[in-house]
Amino acid sequence: MANRTYFATSISDRGDEFFDHFAEHFEAWLSEQKSGAAAYHVLVDPDGAVLGRFNLILAGNGSAELGYRVAERAAGRGVATTWVRELCDLATAEYGLQRIRAATSLRNVASQRVLTKVGFALLGPADPNHLGGKPGVWFELELG
Ligand SMILES: CC(C)(COP(=O)(O)OP(=O)(O)OC[C@H]1O[C@@H](n2cnc3c(N)ncnc32)[C@H](O)[C@@H]1OP(=O)(O)O)[C@@H](O)C(=O)NCCC(=O)NCCS
Repeated sequence: MANRTYFATSISDRGDEFFDHFAEHFEAWLSEQKSGAAAYHVLVDPDGAVLGRFNLILAGNGSAELGYRVAERAAGRGVATTWVRELCDLATAEYGLQRIRAATSLRNVASQRVLTKVGFALLGPADPNHLGGKPGVWFELELG
């Protein structure tokens, strides 16, 4: 909730329903994690404050979709780049993945920059329905 306004400047807001029922969504994510459908990772500073989250939605065929957010107070310091890279390393070792995809809106230049720095290649257009109605592109990283 603390970063809701900040995130809405670059990605679609999830809407009040999401925040009103956050506990239920959280339970559903925990179930996904337990079932192996997703791998959720949270970056926490020594004081316990959440600095970011980095998710892999596992498709079960060696592929996963990456998603991430970094808190406003930690932005612009390489946090996303460092931890997306770390998660991509973990993706092979821990989750046996062969490729990771990520979709970003065209106007989310910071996110595209993060993916490019980590080594993702531009794949092609993304369905706007996947990005809250915004035009965007898919990136892909083939894992060694
Ligand atoms: C996108 C996001 C994850 C970036 O996190 P971060 O920790 O600030 O990213 P980093 O510091 O690792 O790298 C950001 C890069 O984008 C660049 N950048 C930031 N804003 C930019 C802009 N408006 N135009 C061009 N480049 C920009 C930075 O200069 C940096 O590149 P550099 O290292 O070459 O200088 C963060 O802003 C965020 O959580 N945004 C909201 C959620 C989101 O967009 N998630 C991704 C959905 S696909």
